[in-house]
Amino acid sequence: MTSPHEISEMIEPLPHVAIIMDGNGRWAKSQGLSRPEGHLAGVDAIKRIVKAAVTRNLPILTLFAFSSENRLRPKTEVNFLFNLMHRYFDENLKELAEEGINIKIIGETDELPNATLKLIDHVQNATRDNDKMILQIAFNYGSHEEIVYAAKSIAADVSENKLSPSDITKETFEAHLRTAGLPNPDLIIRTSGEYRLSNFMLWQAAYAELYFTDVYWPDFNERELDLALKEYATRERRFGRISEDTISEDKQDKGFISKFSLKKATK
Ligand code: FPP
Repeated sequence: MTSPHEISEMIEPLPHVAIIMDGNGRWAKSQGLSRPEGHLAGVDAIKRIVKAAVTRNLPILTLFAFSSENRLRPKTEVNFLFNLMHRYFDENLKELAEEGINIKIIGETDELPNATLKLIDHVQNATRDNDKMILQIAFNYGSHEEIVYAAKSIAADVSENKLSPSDITKETFEAHLRTAGLPNPDLIIRTSGEYRLSNFMLWQAAYAELYFTDVYWPDFNERELDLALKEYATRERRFGRISEDTISEDKQDKGFISKFSLKKATK
């Protein structure tokens, strides 16, 4: 078995890992339990994985806890998930802060209840000076909303003459996203055997490595995280370029291209 230390040594630089935590409901069903019990088991998995991420020295862990679209679930389940987030921080904030974790909560805040807004402020303020790891929680988050929010705030800057349209760049846009200031995820993991992003970090995922596992979120553990990290370590990230090995074959390519062009030119 590979130790957490060996895992950290294996990957340079260590990735920003984002997780779409899926399958609480199906896990509960498979155990003959209710959906809320599935979410409770999901919180246990969160605690496990946050600890594992710290042990492996991950710089950033992002968790997709509640999507904009999850609000369309029955009210009882939505309320339960909100209460669960409150309880998670009531019970764990002290320990998270002591471990040096800096918590950021991103998502649409307009329609959140006052108590949740207060909680978000409190959690972020209590951990803002920590630098061991960033735990970014996407709560009431959806990429479409985020992209519209960024477009509106850029438009506002333009109408107030703070920004000229010709100066808008990729960086300007990123600076107006809800994730502003943090690098994009390097590795996005989705549990429960579903193969989609479900409106999660659509802009930020442009060059993320994607990893899918059939394991339901409540069963996701250190071993599963290590499997994902080991797989990530084997991926060659080219960002649209070609690999170093291929560059060394450049001479042969140039030879072919020069003959090819000659033929075309003499036709
Ligand atoms: C997906 O399972 C999971 C969720 C919608 C919520 C994840 C939230 C938690 C684990 C706990 C609450 C958050 C915090 C920050 C403590 P699902 O219900 O979609 O499962 P299914 O697809 O099998 O029905």
